[in-house]
Amino acid sequence: MTGNQRIIVKENAVMLSQKAMTLFNQTAKESIDRHGRFVVAISGGATPRRMYRMLAEEPCGSAIPWDKTYIFWVDERCVPENDPDSNYGAAKKDFLNRVSVPEAQVYPMPGELPPKQGAQTYQKALIDFFHLEDGRFPIFDLIFLGMGTDGHTASLFPGHRTVDEKERMVVAVKGGDPDVNRLTLTLPVLNRARQIVFLISGKEKAATLKTVFEDDQTRLPVQKIHALDKELTWLLDREAASLLPGDRNDHRRSLLG
Ligand code: 6PG
Repeated sequence: MTGNQRIIVKENAVMLSQKAMTLFNQTAKESIDRHGRFVVAISGGATPRRMYRMLAEEPCGSAIPWDKTYIFWVDERCVPENDPDSNYGAAKKDFLNRVSVPEAQVYPMPGELPPKQGAQTYQKALIDFFHLEDGRFPIFDLIFLGMGTDGHTASLFPGHRTVDEKERMVVAVKGGDPDVNRLTLTLPVLNRARQIVFLISGKEKAATLKTVFEDDQTRLPVQKIHALDKELTWLLDREAASLLPGDRNDHRRSLLG
């Protein structure tokens, strides 16, 4: 791993989610101050859902400048949005239906399309939104990522060639749990974000995290996330951090890999 990294360990999943919500709110305000809008890509899976629900609760709900917030996804399962496995469907229930973000500023991945077509359609949406010239990649203000016990992140799975993608911004892939077709942003997009936050909770993730930090050769997809010259935050709860060395209280530590 390279780049500036910090680890923040919170006592439990609730405090983890509160911290994530605070980072969302702070980054929104900083981004809007800097360039007039906040563009975030959010993850699926179970871990961020508590944070999503908090985003819609007071006082946070009305403190976030939703009118200048643009929401994208890092990955999606190719299922209809009313399927329990839909990341967009979950986010709608958790916060999108309950906050004042304009619908036109929400960009779900088109999980209902045939996967390859869905990937091309979302890539086109990114090109249009960011006004990208050929060969350029979008730069998100903030990207939230999760991690599977197999070391995947977004829908970039170990051993799959999509992990080596260098040109496309969005690809179709099959795998994971649920084992379905998926769409995912690729590493060149994820790694260009101004800020990347991993949200990782639970003791079942502890052994994988230990590998991520201690074994530089493993080359799990999650280890290929670098914030380039920006900041990468590992936001963990105590259980997830339990096999990492050092102080497990709420603290910040800078690791230069
Ligand atoms: C997805 C994801 C995926 C997820 C991890 C962790 O849609 O499947 O974005 O990368 O973040 O699998 O998921 P949990 O939070 O459920 O452990």
